[in-house]
Amino acid sequence: MVRVQYLGHAAVYIQGEGIQALIDPFLSGNPQAGASSGDYQKLSHIFVTHGHGDHLGDALELATRTGATLVSNFELCTLLGNQGIATHAMHIGGTFRFPFGKVKMTPALHGSGVMTEDQVLYGGVAAGFLIEVEGKKIYHAGDTGLTLDMQLLREESIDLAFLPIGGNFVMDTHDAARSVDLIRPRKVVPMHYDTFPVIQADPQEFLREVGSMAEVRILAPGEAVEL
Ligand code: NI
Ligand code: MN
Repeated sequence: MVRVQYLGHAAVYIQGEGIQALIDPFLSGNPQAGASSGDYQKLSHIFVTHGHGDHLGDALELATRTGATLVSNFELCTLLGNQGIATHAMHIGGTFRFPFGKVKMTPALHGSGVMTEDQVLYGGVAAGFLIEVEGKKIYHAGDTGLTLDMQLLREESIDLAFLPIGGNFVMDTHDAARSVDLIRPRKVVPMHYDTFPVIQADPQEFLREVGSMAEVRILAPGEAVEL
């Protein structure tokens, strides 16, 4: 059984055979965080969709402390690998068979710069992840606008999708519902909303618009879906 826990914003914890992983572990400083970084003593992988602070989050600290392998795009892996952590670089469209299952890095329409005190470092391009665990397919879109490329995911027969709905930087509820029409996952969890004033959204609007296209699971931070 695969347990997929929503931790608020875009942070997700996946526990299954051969994998204990965090995706976009923005926990410290996240007003919605359903867990704290210190809760994780053992992790196998940390997936980072792009370099923005609300996704990179505690990734470096967690990877350093737990020895987990950070999986991200080549440029971010180079930047972070220089800090002494284990990395596995991938890039858009690439698939790799990890011991727990296959992972594909999917396109996202977004930026990926890494903010320092006074500059923005080049962090490659933003991505999403299609992660297969115990034969179940989990899609985390990362931050993205609506793109027709999402139609290609339909034939993947995705079991569970995490889609951003907060608008401004990413899809709003309407565009996210249109993306469900393209992707057609079995279950979908709305994410990346209400964390900050600029990304306020009503997940019920998303639920209404998705209708019978997929089973919408509106999760409070800390709640989980089992596959
Ligand atoms: Ni972002
Ligand atoms: Mn974001």
